[in-house]
Amino acid sequence: MTTALVTGAAGALGRAIVRRLTADGHQVAALDRDAGALEGALNLKTDLRDPAAIEAAFAETAARLGPVGVLVNNAAVYPARPFLEVPLAEYDDVHAVNQRAYWLAAQHAARQMSEPGNGAIGGAIVNIASITMHGGWSDLAAYVATKGAAAALTRALARELGPREIRVNCVSPGAFPTAAEEIHPDPEAYERLVLDRQALQRRGRPEELAAVVSFLAGQDASFVTGQTIEVNGGWVMA
Ligand SMILES: NC(=O)c1ccc[n+]([C@@H]2O[C@H](COP(=O)([O-])OP(=O)(O)OC[C@H]3O[C@@H](n4cnc5c(N)ncnc54)[C@H](O)[C@@H]3O)[C@@H](O)[C@H]2O)c1
Repeated sequence: MTTALVTGAAGALGRAIVRRLTADGHQVAALDRDAGALEGALNLKTDLRDPAAIEAAFAETAARLGPVGVLVNNAAVYPARPFLEVPLAEYDDVHAVNQRAYWLAAQHAARQMSEPGNGAIGGAIVNIASITMHGGWSDLAAYVATKGAAAALTRALARELGPREIRVNCVSPGAFPTAAEEIHPDPEAYERLVLDRQALQRRGRPEELAAVVSFLAGQDASFVTGQTIEVNGGWVMA
C-alpha cells in the first residue's frame, strides 16, 4: 500500500482526488488549512504558507502511514484583483501557497521517496496547474503566473528526479464547477462562455479530474514523466 499526500484536500477537486486515491488503495494524508474531515484519510490541518508546518505534516505522515510514495500538489488561492492594484503581500501569499509550497512539498516527498530502506524507492508527484496558464485571465495575474510555474517546475523536477525513478507530471484543469467560480460576477454568462469554448458541451466533474491524477500516480503511467495533461473538455488543445 502506498502513502499518498494531497494538499488542498478540503477543496472541491482535492476531495475528489482524495476519494479516488483512497479507492485506488492508497493510504491518504489530506492536508488543508480547513480541518475537513475526509473519511478514510489522515486529516492534517496545515497552513501551507508555513514551511515548518509543511515539514511537520510530512514527518507526521511518514510516522503514521509510512513514507510518501505519491504527492499531489493541489492547493491554491486565487484572489481576483486588477494587476495594477495587487498589494505585494497578496502576491507573496499567492506565491507561498501556489508555488513555494509545491516546491517544499516536492522536496520533502522526494527525500522520503529516495530514502534507502524505507520500502518506497521511487514515486510519483502530480502538480495541478490551470488552463489559465495558456491564454491568461484578467485580474488573476499572480495566480496565472504560479500555474505556469507549476508546469515548468514539473519539467525541471522530472528531469532531475528521473534517475531516482520519481516521475513528475502535471494536470491542467479547465473550468470545473467549483468554489473557484464564485470569483465570476455573472455565473450564467460564465457557464455560456465555458460551453462555447469547450468541444464537449457539458461541465466537467471533479471525478473526471481525479481519474487523470490517479492514472499519473499509478503504475499504468510508469513511463510517463515531465508531461502536462489538459483536462478541459477540449477548451485548449495542445
Ligand atoms: N476549479 C477549477 O475549475 C479549476 C480550474 C483550473 C485549475 N484549478 C486548480 O485545481 C486546484 C484545486 O482547485 P479547487 O477548485 O478545488 O479550489 P478550492 O478553492 O475548492 O480548493 C483549494 C483548497 O486549498 C486550500 N488552501 C488554500 N490556501 C491554503 C493554505 N495556506 N494552507 C492549506 N490549504 C490551503 C483551501 O482551503 C481549499 O480547500 C487548484 O490548484 C486550482 O488552481 C481548478
